[in-house]
Amino acid sequence: MEKYVFIIGATSDIGMAIAEKYAREGYDLLLGARKSERLLPAQSDLQIRFGIRCNLLELDLSQTTTLAAVWNSLENKPGITICVAGFMQDNDEVLRDTSATLQTIESNFTGPVTLLNAIALDYMKNGTGVIAGFSSVAGLRGRQSNFIYGSAKAGFIAYLSGLRNKLFHHQVHVLTVLPGFVYTKMTAHLSLPALLTATPAQVANAVFTGIRKKKNVVYVKWFWKWIMCIIRMIPEFMFKKKKL
Ligand SMILES: NC(=O)c1ccc[n+]([C@@H]2O[C@H](COP(=O)([O-])OP(=O)(O)OC[C@H]3O[C@@H](n4cnc5c(N)ncnc54)[C@H](OP(=O)(O)O)[C@@H]3O)[C@@H](O)[C@H]2O)c1
Repeated sequence: MEKYVFIIGATSDIGMAIAEKYAREGYDLLLGARKSERLLPAQSDLQIRFGIRCNLLELDLSQTTTLAAVWNSLENKPGITICVAGFMQDNDEVLRDTSATLQTIESNFTGPVTLLNAIALDYMKNGTGVIAGFSSVAGLRGRQSNFIYGSAKAGFIAYLSGLRNKLFHHQVHVLTVLPGFVYTKMTAHLSLPALLTATPAQVANAVFTGIRKKKNVVYVKWFWKWIMCIIRMIPEFMFKKKKL
């Protein structure tokens, strides 16, 4: 497979860390973002530092009806796609604001699904390719503090699981990334427990290794898997009384 990676949501701290990791390993890049001109400095920096080709692609996941056409218009299509994009806002604000609710669903679910469908069809036809999608442990059980974001991420977890099952039979690998807490712009306003929180560079390494080893699901810090296992086992009649 050609060493060419597509990063959807490349303006994020995690997207940039993944871009740098792959550039360091000699991969060419296609960085997808809305207002992609913001990535011009990063584009030249990556090209100069790592001697790779780095292209930019204008991409807004809320424009669901045009996303497949954006992918299909590419002449040279990357064989690895990593969908990092997502959106999270305070749950109580989103609860009261229909446009924030729709934005949450579009950026975390309908946008990624619409775009990845087009990519999956191509990879399936070619019998090769890798798709990695960023969901969240918030999607593993709905909690009062972020159930709107969490439910969009839950939908994306189910989508990636089904896609993995479908594409396995076409030699296409699908990876689900559940990062746990990460120090980024998205979480800058939160005080996160250091032990449970990863850096974007750690996430990038975990994604790179997960793709290389053809993992199905990656938790960046291993203990998140066990934390969520316990949280999911709490009976609903007890869970609903908790303030989580
Ligand atoms: N940080 C955490 O603790 C954490 C934990 C679990 C899961 N995650 C997931 O990890 C991924 C990366 O998170 P992050 O912390 O790096 O977040 P971030 O810094 O807020 O980045 C989010 C990215 O998504 C892009 N995006 C959002 N809506 C979009 C749209 N409609 N069209 C195109 N791009 C859009 C943003 O682009 P703009 O620059 O244009 O806004 C940005 O590049 C997300 O999927 C997030 O849900 C993060």
